[in-house]
Amino acid sequence: MTASNDSGTRENPTGQARERAGEFDASVSKAVERLKTIEGQRQRGVLYVGIDLGTSRTAVATSTGIRASVSSFVGYPRDMVARKALGKDVLFGDEALRHRLSLDLYRPLEHGVIKFSDGADGVAPEEIERNMQAARDLIQHAVSLARPTGGELIYGVIGCPAQASIRNKQCIIEAAREVLDSVVICSEPFAVAYGLDLLEDALVIDIGAGTVDLCRMKGAMPDETDQITNRFAGDHVDRELYRRLKARLPEAQFTIHQIKRLKERYAFVSEQSRPVVATFTVRGKPRRFDVTDDMREACRSIIPPMVTGVEELIGTFDPEFQEVLRHNIVLGGGGSQIAGLGDYLEQALEEYGGARVRMVEEPVFAGANGALAIAKDMPEDTWEELA
Ligand SMILES: Nc1ncnc2c1ncn2[C@@H]1O[C@H](COP(=O)(O)OP(=O)(O)O)[C@@H](O)[C@H]1O
Ligand SMILES: [Mg+2]
Repeated sequence: MTASNDSGTRENPTGQARERAGEFDASVSKAVERLKTIEGQRQRGVLYVGIDLGTSRTAVATSTGIRASVSSFVGYPRDMVARKALGKDVLFGDEALRHRLSLDLYRPLEHGVIKFSDGADGVAPEEIERNMQAARDLIQHAVSLARPTGGELIYGVIGCPAQASIRNKQCIIEAAREVLDSVVICSEPFAVAYGLDLLEDALVIDIGAGTVDLCRMKGAMPDETDQITNRFAGDHVDRELYRRLKARLPEAQFTIHQIKRLKERYAFVSEQSRPVVATFTVRGKPRRFDVTDDMREACRSIIPPMVTGVEELIGTFDPEFQEVLRHNIVLGGGGSQIAGLGDYLEQALEEYGGARVRMVEEPVFAGANGALAIAKDMPEDTWEELA
């Protein structure tokens, strides 16, 4: 109707109007094609994917019941020889770590955000681009773990570090759009809280590798004032333990990777513990060392900043609900597996009137499960609008 009323252009079309009509027709048929595709895909179904894009571990949960995770390493063969020996152009996770001597290794979410220009002064642009490429490859790999059958629409919610900048989020969306039909980004601790149905008067502490993210749930979408992030997380424990052992046992030989594995096996914070004994080489010969105290102290080093964060979030909350909040603290993330952490944190919060701290049941998948729950709850037309 609008076209025929268009000031008589039908009778005596000028070149410009004809061109415009042509463009209009083309865009209509493009839209129709697109709708047909969407309808066709919709008939084949939608695969919902929740992704927890972590510094150290990326986890995926899908509406088809798949749970998978990979450590967030991406490696590219260094040269022709490495390429031939490995027989691949890109390696992920533990496989990448195992072959690190033949690879350029990336951990693209280091410090909780895609490592790039913001605050990375002096980093060469090619290096930044390679890191971005690693982020894209990692997201694509994560989606492949969801085993899409092809043809179906894939809608994904990606939990990313609370502190990721607008630009970081934009980069994650861009990277994800190459493999997802529609994508939403949310903060990791929010995903954890959503998945556990802790939407009101709860405080989630997600202890990752690069960051500890604290998020206060108040019955509505948390904003900046509800979230605090600090860098005293798992990697900090590793560095602290490494530093202590280097100082105390100068003759012992070990790498930061060995220290991390040692921590994952024996991490604890309580006063009492069974002795922790580590085997390190001394000039190539294995020797056993008691590292109990070093382990305890290194693990405890992340508690004071965490307590400060908790105090801050509780202290600035509505005073009538502070008590409830203090008794509804939940620990998640890989670092929450430090033995005795919940009790120790409760003790540390004793002087603020006591607290109750619980652990999530699936520390590795809590974020991905939550992201999946959000994906499933989002209205279909919102997904389509975003697509
Ligand atoms: N059993 C464990 N005890 C203590 N720390 C652990 C354990 N398992 C994993 N971690 C630590 O948890 C951190 C990773 O947690 P995760 O939630 O996967 O991190 P991110 O979200 O940053 O990827 C790492 O520092 C890792 O060493
Ligand atoms: Mg995490």
